[in-house]
Amino acid sequence: MASDKVSIRFEGKTLECRSDTTVAVALWENDVRHLSHSPKYGRPRGVTCARGHCTACLMRVDSTPNVRTCELAVREGMEIERQDAGAFYAAPMQKVLAAGSAFFPVGFYYKWFTKPAFVSRFFLDRIRPLTGVGRLPDTSNPPKTDDGQPADLGRFDTVIVGAGPSGLAAAERTGGRVLVLDDHEQPGGQRYGALQRLADHPGGILDRFELLRSALERMENAREKFSARDDVTFLGGTRAIAGYHPDGLLLRKGNHLQTVRFDSMIWAAGALDTLGLFPGNDTPGLLGPRALYRLLVRDGLDVRGKNVLVVGSGLDFWLSAALLDTSGARLNLVVTDTGSPDEISAAVDRNWPLNTGLELHSISGYGKQHLRAAFTPDASGGGRTGSRLTMETDLAVICDRAKPAYDVPYQLGTDLSLQPDLGGFVLSDSPSLVAVGEAAGGLPGVAASPASEVESI
Ligand code: FES
Repeated sequence: MASDKVSIRFEGKTLECRSDTTVAVALWENDVRHLSHSPKYGRPRGVTCARGHCTACLMRVDSTPNVRTCELAVREGMEIERQDAGAFYAAPMQKVLAAGSAFFPVGFYYKWFTKPAFVSRFFLDRIRPLTGVGRLPDTSNPPKTDDGQPADLGRFDTVIVGAGPSGLAAAERTGGRVLVLDDHEQPGGQRYGALQRLADHPGGILDRFELLRSALERMENAREKFSARDDVTFLGGTRAIAGYHPDGLLLRKGNHLQTVRFDSMIWAAGALDTLGLFPGNDTPGLLGPRALYRLLVRDGLDVRGKNVLVVGSGLDFWLSAALLDTSGARLNLVVTDTGSPDEISAAVDRNWPLNTGLELHSISGYGKQHLRAAFTPDASGGGRTGSRLTMETDLAVICDRAKPAYDVPYQLGTDLSLQPDLGGFVLSDSPSLVAVGEAAGGLPGVAASPASEVESI
């Protein structure tokens, strides 16, 4: 992990950090996890998605407000502030809002005050600033301008968004002029880097976890076939950020914007972490597995010697545990589904502490950096009763059901519906758009759309 050091300034303090990481990770490694507040009740927010998809890491950087610090590389001398720290907004404002919560129902803050125009202007000018977001840059220190120029990539027969196993399988079966794009620089998907890290680890950990080894093999096969296609254009490090009905996409690579048009689009952008419903599920220090992969593999988050609680089951649970173990963390595992006997015996062989028969009840923060998780006996315990069990940890990874990444298809007219038999929310197809894999509620590498030409791989 040796790398050059740089100094950044956080709210008047000088912090030393690695030069090859993001602002959010640099702050985390300097014991600052609380990056922002929720706009309505001012609840503390920390890194949540680590993929530029939420608002939890928005901070003021070199006087520019609303910067996503989970994707911003550190730079010597950077000035970073929480944008609402110390404002009237903080604790007093939360008390006022909580007392009057009956008058501010869910949706109030983003749906109301849009019409008529003079009310909207009043809201934007007077009320929104109270939440601490959106203060304009200091005129003495203007923000850096975007140096990217919009460019039009033209029209493709098919645009495939996402180069995980499902997107690559779709590319294999798609002819004509095809563009594949992914926010990672390399094709392979959200888990690929994490699995590769395990494959490179000298301990041979993948040999013990067949589930992980076969997932990596599937990805390697898909990548190999994909690289043999010289008629497909691949754009790495590129994200679809907006859809324009009926056939347009706005793409972003760094600060550079591009547009592209398509005859048909295959949406294989994978899924977003969800942590489940329990009190404290927004506590800073709680992560889903996909965010963990980015923080550990992409940003090099240092977890050596840290206590990490992992809760859940399935591929992401075992992958998170193996990745954390090989990164030097001290594991504590709560397996919610014991139907993986091979993985459980591999974990026992590695002396991982395993707990079963527990249901997560709540998580709360204590001290500045620690979490306390409370568990109750789960319903399958045959009526077993017992007092609540608490565990203390530095970081908790919750591997719950994910939800499709859906913003852009939604803008293009598809719908998101709950289909419990498919494991959660599913994107419906539209005439020009087909969703596959996790983006459609299916497993990675499996096309879930019956209307698609793309079949299960
Ligand atoms: S956008 Fe940075 S944590 Fe979600």
